Amino acid sequence: MKIFLIGFMGCGKSTKAKQLANRLDCPVIDLDAEIVKSEEMSIAEYFEKHGEAAFRQLESDTLKTFDYPETCVVATGGGLPCFFDNIEWMNENGKTVYLQMSPPQLVSRLHNREKRPLLKGMDDEQLLAFVEMKLAERNPFYNQAKIVINAFDLDAEILEER
Ligand code: S3P
Repeated sequence: MKIFLIGFMGCGKSTKAKQLANRLDCPVIDLDAEIVKSEEMSIAEYFEKHGEAAFRQLESDTLKTFDYPETCVVATGGGLPCFFDNIEWMNENGKTVYLQMSPPQLVSRLHNREKRPLLKGMDDEQLLAFVEMKLAERNPFYNQAKIVINAFDLDAEILEER
């Protein structure tokens, strides 16, 4: 079984994916990290050089062509479920889990704003407005996940039960 963790930037997908993979004793795959490896540049550099549309195509291609082990936990980029048919693809190819978090919680966790091209230069107030707007736009995609769960409640048993 492949488990895809989805959700907004800062909700803890990468950290939770590592913890979950540890508990389930299976490999963890971080799709953003795979892109950084294959392109030999950071996500911010990629956005700057090629633009967002090229990044969305590349992350979708990476999602669909990666050579996944049979059982694994996959951390995805925050925007990935909201482009092309990526959410349907993940639902068909594994168990998709949306890690929910409120906008104020996300803002308090989003420290590394310079690393994230969409958040560059924002102060807390601008960021809160941006997160509220983007979440409203993205929730219809995120909510198509098979499991929708408060990010703080995720653990391996819950995934077994559902
Ligand atoms: C993005 C989220 C980022 C990264 C890129 C765009 C987004 O991933 O893919 O900066 O559109 O939400 P994280 O959610 O891992 O920060």
